[in-house]
Amino acid sequence: VETRLAAALADADMPPVLYGGLKREELHRTGSVILHEIYFDGLGGDGQAAGSIRAALAKAWGSFETWAKDFRRTGLSLAGGSGWVILAYNLHARSLRNHWAWDHMHGAAASVPILALDMYEHSFHMDYGTQAAKYIDAWFRNLDWEAADRRYAQATAIGAT
Ligand SMILES: [Fe+2]
Repeated sequence: VETRLAAALADADMPPVLYGGLKREELHRTGSVILHEIYFDGLGGDGQAAGSIRAALAKAWGSFETWAKDFRRTGLSLAGGSGWVILAYNLHARSLRNHWAWDHMHGAAASVPILALDMYEHSFHMDYGTQAAKYIDAWFRNLDWEAADRRYAQATAIGAT
């Protein structure tokens, strides 16, 4: 896409609508790569939430369980379609949010992803069929909270500057 964009930029006759299509694809692919890398980086743990991220989630939602309930419910809302659930630290609002993302391009401005749950059918249908809740349970059981805590510390450090 980058190669095609460079060629399109050099083309004086390139219709803006076609250039826009490439810019859309650039955004789509960038989001897909980053979110999948955060998804896989967040797995491989024992699912036991700890560290400052757990305390911050409990403080922001009233309890850790309430945060998890919101995250799960957002995931189930996407189960009939596709998209992501993203726990993000917002640098502007200086707060944690669970975001519904219908595709790789949704996300609030100034958001830094901490956790990302892939709700595209390819991520769970082979193992769980239509039982998306079981997939979400398995995702929670295998979360690497140390990785999430690391990303949270990095985001809040940026936000503090
Ligand atoms: Fe995916």
